[in-house]
Amino acid sequence: MQTILVTGGAGYIGSFTVDKLIKKGFIVVIVDNLSSGNKQNMNEKAEFRELDILDKEALEKVFSEFNIDAVVHFAGKIEVEESMYDPKKYFDNNILGGLNILEAMRKNNVKNIVFSSSAAVYGIPNKKKVSEEAEKKPINFYGQTKLWFEELLEWYDKIHEIKSVCLRYFNAAGAAIDGSKGEIRKKETHVIPILFDKIQQQQPFSIFGDDYPTRDGTCVRDYIHVLDLADAHIRALSYLEENNQSNIFNVGTSEGISVKELVEQAQKITGQTTQIQIAPRRPGDPPFLVADNTKITQTLNWRPRYSDVSTILESAWKWMNRK
Ligand code: UFG
Repeated sequence: MQTILVTGGAGYIGSFTVDKLIKKGFIVVIVDNLSSGNKQNMNEKAEFRELDILDKEALEKVFSEFNIDAVVHFAGKIEVEESMYDPKKYFDNNILGGLNILEAMRKNNVKNIVFSSSAAVYGIPNKKKVSEEAEKKPINFYGQTKLWFEELLEWYDKIHEIKSVCLRYFNAAGAAIDGSKGEIRKKETHVIPILFDKIQQQQPFSIFGDDYPTRDGTCVRDYIHVLDLADAHIRALSYLEENNQSNIFNVGTSEGISVKELVEQAQKITGQTTQIQIAPRRPGDPPFLVADNTKITQTLNWRPRYSDVSTILESAWKWMNRK
């Protein structure tokens, strides 16, 4: 039975992945500082140590307490806007915190890590479907830290033979199919929770820009259900175990949907209409961000199972309306 250390295992994607790991029979140790994670999300069967990955000593103690076989590293700062006025916070958490993990792995001879990267590494792609080989030109500091950490992983492979799989997430969305678990955030910036909140409150929803060079003028994104994302991590761990080789994969559906289309679908699902107002463009939004997912489907035999727009929206709506 393998023991997996999951950093950020109380967070949105982390906690769904922990559930899946436990279901598959892994022993899971979560480290999380609960700055954005939530105890409510956390699987009771997992061991939990509340700590910040910047606390090197506390982190190394966990490595000596448990016999860790591999790491799945979610813990990090993820707000694009915040990264543009507080870059140091992003450097500290996403680079220095990550480095503490790599050093603890090195000292304890742990050789495999799955890393939560982001489509933000691409910046504004010049193709409608972006493949892993496309040019990486982040347009925000958050994306830059993800790219730097990917590069650090490459060096730790060359120098210390630590093998990694970087998963570049597109737009994570959705909730447990029965609505029992989902996103909990102090400050919500993501389109689906905001849209449902506006529908519930009967307030107008703002679309940030309708003059983009897309089919209806609004931004096109590739929404990926959190359960499909969780599955990609399990496959990435097996890949490392079986191939002893580092790799990078996009995790997306290869299908894009515009903000306007999302609003239409949300109205259908909720049976409620919402007033729309067109607001100015949000700085740093690429018009299109859709994955070419050929590599992950061929190499990891991964397929999106829950990522059709209706399943994403229905599950998220159930979660919003939980008792
Ligand atoms: N949007 C609106 N109104 C809102 C909120 C969002 O129109 O109230 C639009 C955005 O402008 C964007 C789309 O909805 O066009 C999706 O926005 P999100 O904030 O939900 O997601 P992003 O595509 O901006 O962000 C995602 C991830 C980030 C990652 C980024 C890469 O959440 O972690 O993709 O560009 F960095």
